[in-house]
Amino acid sequence: MVTKTFQKMYELIPAKESSQFKIIHRKISEEEVKFQKLKNIWDEKQYMEVYGLTPGTYVVLGNKKNGETIMSDTWMEQYTNHEIIEKANGNVLIAGLGIGLIILPIQAKECVKSIVIIEKYQEIIDLVLPHLPLNNKVKVICADIDTYEPKNNIKFDTIYFDIWNNITADNYPQMKDLHKKFRKFLNNKVNPNCFIESWRRSDCRRLDKENRKYDYNDVAKQFKITDEKIRRAILKNDLKLQRNKLILESEKYKEVQRNE
Ligand SMILES: C[S@@+](CC[C@H](N)C(=O)[O-])C[C@H]1O[C@@H](n2cnc3c(N)ncnc32)[C@H](O)[C@@H]1O
Repeated sequence: MVTKTFQKMYELIPAKESSQFKIIHRKISEEEVKFQKLKNIWDEKQYMEVYGLTPGTYVVLGNKKNGETIMSDTWMEQYTNHEIIEKANGNVLIAGLGIGLIILPIQAKECVKSIVIIEKYQEIIDLVLPHLPLNNKVKVICADIDTYEPKNNIKFDTIYFDIWNNITADNYPQMKDLHKKFRKFLNNKVNPNCFIESWRRSDCRRLDKENRKYDYNDVAKQFKITDEKIRRAILKNDLKLQRNKLILESEKYKEVQRNE
């Protein structure tokens, strides 16, 4: 049901590289889908992340410097962006061009008058924009949403922040700041259907809340994790660890250190 709204992005955007980013066409086989689903259960990750994944060819936008995937058109992205596509109306502001996955169904809506997209990296704009069949509602501006200031008195009916590659508690403070900064540009005195949201904000809020339950420095002390390097690695890499898991993780890190 979700997929009907979206285009097959590999049919539009060719595989290409710039100095910092790359677009690849990634084929996912039936075997790999099974493997990913089992792996998510095994790693105790949410099964929802891969629930609707099907074999096929996907467009992946990656960062060549850190190897991270920035965006793809897999089922998870379609599913988690469905609400914005349903709710977008009037004059729309979107932070994050990515591969333009959500832009195409949003521009097709009659109730959408204009779309301003703020994208931080010119290289991403150059890799993606020439291949998107955009209509004249869409304007792309190369800028950082954290510092971008819309013109005075401008109002948007829909504001959506979609600038994060993954779901972590670390995203939540930035989401809060962006919502605070942009709330005054929302047309909410005139339009009751105004909408402002960040991609997967409720998931980031939940993770942020979970983190606050533990004082990890304290737990590390309690389990006598004194080696500063190990302690920092644990704190940095998995703030979600429960107390009993922390012991296992510390052993794992110690083992890695021993073998280095
Ligand atoms: C997950 S992708 C967006 C996906 C996109 N909405 C789509 O439909 O394909 C995140 C995008 O946000 C951009 N970005 C990251 N930080 C940004 C910032 N501070 N300001 C503007 N764009 C940013 C990234 O370069 C990337 O293109």
